[in-house]
Amino acid sequence: MSRLPLLAGNWKMNLNHVEATGVVQKLAWTMSDYRHDKTKAEAAVIVPFTDLRTVQNLIEGDKLSISFGAQDVSVHESGAYTGEVAASMLAKLNCRYVVVGHSERREYHGETDELINAKAKQVIANQMTPIICVGERLEIRKEGSHVPYVLAQIDGVLAGLTPAQVGALVIAYEPVWAIGTGEVATPEDAQEVCGAIRYRVQELFGAEAADKVRIQYGGSVKSSNIIDIMAQPDVDGALVGGASLDPVEFARIVTYYTR
Ligand code: 13P
Repeated sequence: MSRLPLLAGNWKMNLNHVEATGVVQKLAWTMSDYRHDKTKAEAAVIVPFTDLRTVQNLIEGDKLSISFGAQDVSVHESGAYTGEVAASMLAKLNCRYVVVGHSERREYHGETDELINAKAKQVIANQMTPIICVGERLEIRKEGSHVPYVLAQIDGVLAGLTPAQVGALVIAYEPVWAIGTGEVATPEDAQEVCGAIRYRVQELFGAEAADKVRIQYGGSVKSSNIIDIMAQPDVDGALVGGASLDPVEFARIVTYYTR
């Protein structure tokens, strides 16, 4: 089974729409300098809502080999939900991906597996691909219960989906203790959990869904550690925070397979 690796840069609340133009242009030039081959890996930028229209125009206008998407979505279809953005609005901007359940949303906005599951269903209903985040906090890792903890998250966030829907989506395993801390999980740590997630998907949704679903690792990914992370059999890409804000560094991550 060959799953196309997905290297996605989650900009979080950084780079306004003017800065976004420069960063995406430089990313595209540098990826081509590094001989990016889109049959070997897919690059994506996950940008603030206010950047989406600019990024869309640039990527579509210049036919850049970069996918784009949003960092969150409303659980509601439309209506009186001040400040929220509907999945249909993101689909209208041709977003391919929508991140749901990032640990920062779970932590600062109280998002639960149930809510994240409902958001993922909104994304799928609007023909986009959710990148569903899971991951344990440090105290869970220290007590050694990270695998069952993450698998319980998986059960919750994937509830009620069909095997075909699960096969088409992306799961990002992001241990909270490795996010923005410079503390990277070892490749073996990443494989342990990503492998367990794939096995759980097989139990719940069957072998085909498990073969197809792309599972990313996220947490302090850089050009210096991406090769060892990508060498793991159940890691199909990375969700990159800080390092994705530097287009040269992110281009090196995207083209890891050339080195
Ligand atoms: P860092 O790469 O900055 O650790 O962030 C990871 C992350 O949260 C990506 O979604």
